[in-house]
Amino acid sequence: MTDTITIRRPDDWHVHFRDGAMLQSAVPFTARQFRRAIVMPNLVPPVTTVDAARAYRDRINMAVPDGIDFQPLMTAYLTDTIDAGELARGAEEGVFTAVKLYPAGATTNSDSGVTDLKQVTAVLECMQAIGLPLLLHGEVTDPEVDIFDREARFIEQKLIGLRADFPELKVVFEHATTKDAVDYVLSQDSHMGCTITAHHLVINRTDIFKGGIRPHLYCLPIAKREVHRQALRAAATSGDKRFFLGTDTAPHPVHEKESDCGCAGIFSAPTAMQVYTQVFDEAGALDKLEAFASINGPGFYGLAANEGTVTLVRDVVEVPERVETAEGEIVMVFRPDAGLNWRIMA
Ligand code: NCD
Ligand code: ZN
Repeated sequence: MTDTITIRRPDDWHVHFRDGAMLQSAVPFTARQFRRAIVMPNLVPPVTTVDAARAYRDRINMAVPDGIDFQPLMTAYLTDTIDAGELARGAEEGVFTAVKLYPAGATTNSDSGVTDLKQVTAVLECMQAIGLPLLLHGEVTDPEVDIFDREARFIEQKLIGLRADFPELKVVFEHATTKDAVDYVLSQDSHMGCTITAHHLVINRTDIFKGGIRPHLYCLPIAKREVHRQALRAAATSGDKRFFLGTDTAPHPVHEKESDCGCAGIFSAPTAMQVYTQVFDEAGALDKLEAFASINGPGFYGLAANEGTVTLVRDVVEVPERVETAEGEIVMVFRPDAGLNWRIMA
């Protein structure tokens, strides 16, 4: 049995840092685990300008603990009215690494999102021309569509057409939760990437109701049936270049989770690499962990893989369930019910 594994330093291609007091608490967890992270722009108001992204990047950098080498990679929030010139300038000036598309109303802070892909044709043409990736929250928002079907419908109703109209546009299917998404990505060329969270590799939809309702396992896209979790595990641990690590760590204060209308989002930044390692270990695929965590993501984005390494050790560890912030506690930190059995070597 392998008891330690050393890989190149990993990156997280999907994080929510928030702002203010929450950002101060959230950033150090990600910075301790990852060398770079794609930072989602769903603040209130959303990050839609180069100036706003630069200022947000400065606030994140200020929250990185001393002595830690961490680089936030910024994204712009796509709206119906955003100007292609602003995105092009942000890319040119090294501020925007990608652009995030939230269908309006799909998830937390997505009210300013895109109402119809037709609204953003000129912007997508520009992004395709300059090689700026489009990151998708892949769910339809029609309230008539069952919540468990929204991802599959998005592929049929939006993504297939989008890929046909913009075949050279780099597209990331973020936080895939279905076999449908995995199969679709596998049918596509290297312009298509896909992130997979740690929690969707661990929980299925039944876990959300295990012994009672578990608000801390509620996120969007919501976890699906076991067959989908198995497809995600197979994809992540396959080594296939199109699949890479993106935690979608999304902290909310406890009063917003444990509420009669609780927010979507799972906070996994403190435990993410340990959980991924555990999943790859269970699959007998520790030899594929580096590809998923450290190689495939930079490859897709056209960046160099990180120098330096991180070592994980098989070890039973207790992880605090709560994190204090000036905005209230974050409960819970994500972990498998059975506990964690890998830790990051200091
Ligand atoms: C995210 C958040 O809280 O910002 N929530 C979530 O459940 N993943 C938004 C998102 O990525 O959908
Ligand atoms: Zn997200």
